[in-house]
Amino acid sequence: MADFRLPKNSRLRPGKLHKASEDAKDVRRFHIYRYNPDDKENPQIDTFEVDQTQCGPMVLDALIYIKNHIDPTLTFRRSCREGICGSCSMNIDGTNTLACTKSTGDVKGDVKIFPLPHMPVIKDLVPDLSVAYAQYTSIKPWIQEEVEHTGDRERLQSPEDRKKLDGLWECILCFSCSTSCPSYWWNGDRYLGPATLLQAHRFIQDSRDQKTDERLQELEDPFKLYRCHTIMNCTKTCPKGLNPAASIGDIKQKIAEQKIKGISLKKG
Ligand code: SF4
Ligand code: FES
Repeated sequence: MADFRLPKNSRLRPGKLHKASEDAKDVRRFHIYRYNPDDKENPQIDTFEVDQTQCGPMVLDALIYIKNHIDPTLTFRRSCREGICGSCSMNIDGTNTLACTKSTGDVKGDVKIFPLPHMPVIKDLVPDLSVAYAQYTSIKPWIQEEVEHTGDRERLQSPEDRKKLDGLWECILCFSCSTSCPSYWWNGDRYLGPATLLQAHRFIQDSRDQKTDERLQELEDPFKLYRCHTIMNCTKTCPKGLNPAASIGDIKQKIAEQKIKGISLKKG
């Protein structure tokens, strides 16, 4: 019989309640996923009562407050604190987003914080992104040329060609989109996912790159690209307001156009 429950070692056990001090003025409850591989126990949800008069307005501010003042073992990634490094992506109030740009005031009721979904967890809110980064590396995220650029000037680009990169270069590789995608949940080892495909599109669109046909050939694969079923969770969740679904659609269209032009994209 099919078992629809989580595997035994993933089932949550009761966590700890860290109460605010008696003189706290504006208490907010944060329910946070905790997992420590060293204690060999199942994950748990700890509850932290935070006096909001003592910390900044963003969810990341609350996490830093908890780490500094309540539980120094709480583990999460962050760096820029300005929505540009992509480190602090996590699931807040049921949506993948950036903790540093998500205001606690935008969450109704208690704040529930989990790691990015369907990824192996290293500790607490830190997912293992090694597969996602290997997939990113696989699309060769750099400008490739047939003939090596040797001049003493930069590679020039017209304003029109530069404009084709808008909506793509802004991606901060937070993987909020990929980890919100059911196709990526089920086939994350073979489907490249929206984040990596948006990055692939960024180099396909770049007028300075001379390997467009090869890039399209590489992507023409039932799993790497065509596992996208246009569910659109990626676009809905992107904290930078980008549209990975449109990028994937454009890659599919370009492959179809190449075929119509008679360029075989099948590998020899
Ligand atoms: S497309 Fe958006 S959600 Fe996806 S990795 Fe880039 S910034 Fe993050
Ligand atoms: S800390 Fe850099 S994006 Fe949030």
